[in-house]
Amino acid sequence: MSRLVRLLGLALLCGSAAAFAISQTSAQQIAAHDAAKSSTKLGLGRIALPEEIKAWDTDVRPDGKGLPVGKGTAKRGDVIFQAQCAVCHGEFGEGAGRWPVLAGGAGTLKADRPDKTIGSFWPDLSTVFDYIQRAMPFGNARSLSNDDVYALTAYLLSMNDIIKDENFELNEKNFTSIKMPNASAFYEDDRETAEKQFWKKDPCMKDCRSAPKVTGRAMSVDVTPDGKSGPKVE
Ligand code: HEC
Repeated sequence: MSRLVRLLGLALLCGSAAAFAISQTSAQQIAAHDAAKSSTKLGLGRIALPEEIKAWDTDVRPDGKGLPVGKGTAKRGDVIFQAQCAVCHGEFGEGAGRWPVLAGGAGTLKADRPDKTIGSFWPDLSTVFDYIQRAMPFGNARSLSNDDVYALTAYLLSMNDIIKDENFELNEKNFTSIKMPNASAFYEDDRETAEKQFWKKDPCMKDCRSAPKVTGRAMSVDVTPDGKSGPKVE
């Protein structure tokens, strides 16, 4: 019998089963794996429990696969956002100080300093849901309920003018009907056809071009001037 199963037995005897919230099936799985282990070469690790896989397997795909059941309006998202997100991302997602900007920036992608936000840049709404569910609020990740995440996603859609009605309820059924403004700027890698003329049967592998001419170095060009200590930017 594995140590874990024995521990589980002990925990049950002591009446503290709650500390070992492992289902009987899981315990049986571990025992079965232990039995098989002696015949394997390395005998390292054990089969992941269904509970463990479930806890990690939270990704949401653009086609909606992985979305949990839930719902939320922008109106409710507003309340959560002000309490848990605005301190860093600003009340309207405009970004407080130098924290990330989540809204605005429409039409700036071709500008010198593009504002790459959810509304101006992100092609898929699923990334918004997945990111918040996985990583936010910063420092207290995985603390939000599914309904909270739907509501926050709806709020960010509203701040980016993608939905107009703050009472619109986002849920797992209508989620994929929302189209992101910049979605069409992303496309499948088409180099195989678009760059066909570069594909040769015998590609050059040696001395293919002359030495490059260095026109500037990052230090002197100062790629990230801060406006104060850096050189003046025209
Ligand atoms: C303590 C500050 C802080 C709080 C509070 C916070 N965030 Fe963030 N957020 C960040 C930082 C920092 C990043 C960038 C992390 C990175 O790039 O690794 C980020 C990134 C994001 C992004 C991705 C932005 C992008 O363009 O890459 C989203 C969406 C987001 N946060 C939503 C939220 C929501 C919703 C909440 C509230 C539930 C929240 N955040 C609370 C600091 C915070």
